[in-house]
Formats: sequence, structure tokens, C-alpha cells
Amino acid sequence: MTQRSKRHNRRYGIPRREFLQYVAAVSAIPTIAVRAVGRVNERPKFPGNPFALGVASGDPEPDGVVIWTRLAPQPLDGGGMPHEAVRTRWEVATDATFANPVRQGTALAMPQLGHSVHVEVDGLQPQRRYFYRFHAGNETSPVGRTRTAPARDALPDRLRFAFTSCQHYETGYFNGYPHMQQEDLDLVIHLGDYIYEYAGIDKRPRKHIGSEIVSLDDYRTRYAQYRLDKTLQDTHRLFPWLVTWDDHEFDNNYANLVSEEDGISPEAFLARRMNAYQAYYEFMPLRRRSFPRGPHMKLYRGCQYGRLANFHVLDTRQYRTDQPNGDGQKPMTDKVLDPRATMLGNKQEHWLMSSLLQSPSTWNVLAQQVMMAPLNRGEGQDRRYSMDQWPGYEVSRRRLLRFFHERKIANPVVLTGDIHLNWVNDLQLDFQDPKSPRVGTELVGTSMSSSGNGGNVIPEYERAAAQNDFVRWYNSNRGYVACDITPQAWTTHFRATPFVDKPGSPIVTKASFVIEQGQPGAKPA
Ligand SMILES: [Fe+2]
Repeated sequence: MTQRSKRHNRRYGIPRREFLQYVAAVSAIPTIAVRAVGRVNERPKFPGNPFALGVASGDPEPDGVVIWTRLAPQPLDGGGMPHEAVRTRWEVATDATFANPVRQGTALAMPQLGHSVHVEVDGLQPQRRYFYRFHAGNETSPVGRTRTAPARDALPDRLRFAFTSCQHYETGYFNGYPHMQQEDLDLVIHLGDYIYEYAGIDKRPRKHIGSEIVSLDDYRTRYAQYRLDKTLQDTHRLFPWLVTWDDHEFDNNYANLVSEEDGISPEAFLARRMNAYQAYYEFMPLRRRSFPRGPHMKLYRGCQYGRLANFHVLDTRQYRTDQPNGDGQKPMTDKVLDPRATMLGNKQEHWLMSSLLQSPSTWNVLAQQVMMAPLNRGEGQDRRYSMDQWPGYEVSRRRLLRFFHERKIANPVVLTGDIHLNWVNDLQLDFQDPKSPRVGTELVGTSMSSSGNGGNVIPEYERAAAQNDFVRWYNSNRGYVACDITPQAWTTHFRATPFVDKPGSPIVTKASFVIEQGQPGAKPA
């Protein structure tokens, strides 16, 4: 989320016919990547370390995970790889010395996908730690560590995970990650704004390479710049990640086909979106089910941790209708109450509801982007709500909360990113009636680095925290959120880094809250 004035000129325009050809060519890549045509380089030589971008794992299942790498000896200079397929080998073992590999194989690093490698490893044991690595030519990657999910019918004693979002590289160092690495976690969840699309600006703690990103190469270089941050790269290497995006992986506050800026044709906007989505796929440990089809990419999906927790990962950007009433902070009137307005799109909303109805788990988690509680930020009778968040799509919001209530969904917990602040909110069926039943809990994570040091007093939000009865806590530091879940209770620790304008901040637990099973709403722990 960033407030920014609308601009009118852009530097690209693409005729419709060329655009459609482009979409067709890119859509053929999944087939190409599986069955390589032409030469495969079996013994590549590299001008530098091909594993400079590290390794990652993600989307855990009871029998496996995705393991990822990307061959890029010159990551900030187009990758530094020849335009040919390169054979890699991979190994998975139960020990870090690989004395006993339990699974191994080969995979092609394809130039069409920036020589990224995504291997869906299966045949593993549930709820177990594994180590993995890749080989290419004479080079070997760093050793990654990961963990599978519990069996679907198992009830684990506990699950520990951390979530974060919003890591603007220029406005600060990722000081939460070294501390996150010290935690005993089963999983890391990233709720989006993994990169920011803006041009580099001087006189900030760090600087983006280049202008605002538009082409596939631009997006690739931007991801590479972020992933070369050792604190981020190592956190990928140590835990499996479950990722979703927000707006800045593409363009600030976009909605479906609608650009933040005026005067952008849908074709030009979609061509840019295709570049953004492809680079996202290339850099993230995602399964083939998320492979982009031109400018579309299905990122919403489930991830179940036995009968303890069920994560429903959402995409609130790709399918939403345009922000109502001209975006910004507005009263809850006019288009806000349009029943055709949608935050998730029909397909995703139906998937979410049926997934919730079928869920056997105690805790039902929505891992998503924008704030769901209807925070009034106005003064006195001048009530104002963010049109970019769920209250801008009020009919969608009420439908989902009513669904939680009427269908008795077990313990809904909504995880939110986007706004660079912590909030703990009760989710009430009818927010205009203070006695209305609580139907869920919202935990809003602050940013890792976006908006700079933080910890300051923000009068607008101090007022909002005081005047909205459903708010249990608010805080403006940077950091991440650590959650410790058992069948009886969900404990949340809000970890804060006092500064991000230089590396090496300590970590402070600003507050801890507990949600008791069967009782929506969080209480101080
Ligand atoms: Fe953000």
C-alpha cells in the first residue's frame, strides 16, 4: 500500500496482435520446460558461482516439498547463463552430510524460465526434517533445510510458524530475518510486497537498481537484488515458505486489469503483469499448479497441517473489482455497497468456502493481504475507511464473516500484511453493533522494512485504535510475527526490530496475545 498520485504517461504501448502472440509464446513454456527441445548442456562451466541466489523450499505437503534454485553466476547482469538448457542434479537426505540420500534426480534449468529449477519432491515422510542441495557442472549449492507437513489425519502437539510482509529494500535492512532464523519454525509465511517496483531513489539506506520495473529482465534483476540480501536468502534456505503476493510484486494498488495510473491500455497493463507474474514464479518455491498462463497465475491454494491447522492462501489482487469511490479513505457509501463488487472473484471465493467447509482442522487460517476489520480512520461523524482494503468491498466482507458464523467454521484466524503496522482485531459479524458476536480474529503483521524505522506515534492510527472497539492492540514498529499453535490455544508474539536504517538490530517482543480454541478474539497472553 502506498498513497501516490495518478500519473498519465507511460513508456510502452503494445499493439493487440503482438500482445496475443506474446501471450501464446509464453503460455507454451510449461511444456517446453518439461520436455526440452534442442541441446542440453550436461557439463556447464560458469563464470562465477552459479548458486549465488541460494536455495529455497516451499508449499509443504505430508509427502514432500518443492525445492528451488536458480542458476545465475551473474545475478544482477542478466544471470550470466548461456541461452541453453542446463542439466542439474538434486539430492534430499535426512542428514546435512548427505550420507544417506533418500531421494535424488535431475532437472533441467531452462533459459525460458531464467534457469530457475523447481523440483516437486515426493515420497518423503510426514512432519520430518530434510536437507537438500543441487549440483550443476562441478558446482554444488549451499545445503537447504526443510520440513514436510504432518499427515492429513494426524493431530500434532504444536505448530510454530512466522509471518511477515512488505520488505522495501530501499527503506531498510531486513533486520527481522536473522532473528527469525533463530526460532524453531515449521514454516515461514510471506504475505506479499516481497519486492517493490519503484525506481531507485538516492539518500535512502539502500538503493534499487534501475528505473521502475516493466520488462521481464527488469523484474528478474529486482528479485535478484532482493534475494542477494543474505538475511533473506538464508531464511529461505532454513525453512519451507508459503508465499503469496500483494500489489508491489506488480504495481501499487492495482486491481485486476485496472492500473493505478490513468491512460494505460489493458493490453500494455497485461503485458507488464505477465512479466511480473513470470518473474515471481521463477523466484519462488512454487508448485507447477501455480505456473503462470500468460498474465494469469493461480496463487490461491491450500496447505494443511493435519487436523491442527489449515492454511487457505489467498490472492486479493488479481481478481478484485476496481477500488470503489476513487480509492483512498472514503465513507462507506455508494460503490462500497455494490453487491457486484468482489475482493476474491467468484471462483476463488467458492473455492475458499468449500475448502473451509471440508476442513478437518482446529484452526482455519486465511493467509492474505489487506485488512479485514472495518477500521474507521475518520474524525467524529466523518467516518472513513480504506477503499483498498476489505471495507471497500463491504458486501464481500460481510458475506465471508456471515459464512464463518452460519457454517460454524472452526476458529477462523485472518493473517494480514500490507499496511506496515501491527493490529490485533476481533472480527465481528456486524461491526455497527458492539454486542454482535465475534466470528474470528485478525492478526495484522507489520512490515519487515517498508516505511523505515517505525516505532513512532502516528496520530491518525492512535485515534483509529482508540475509536474502533474491535481493536485489541496496535503498534508501529518493524518486524515479524511468531505464532505457536496447539490444539487448545494459539499464542502470537509480535517481534519488533527497533531500527532498520542500518543492519544488526536487536529483537524485542512488543506484545503477546492468546486465542483460546472455540473463543474468537485475542487476549493479552
Ligand atoms: Fe507494503
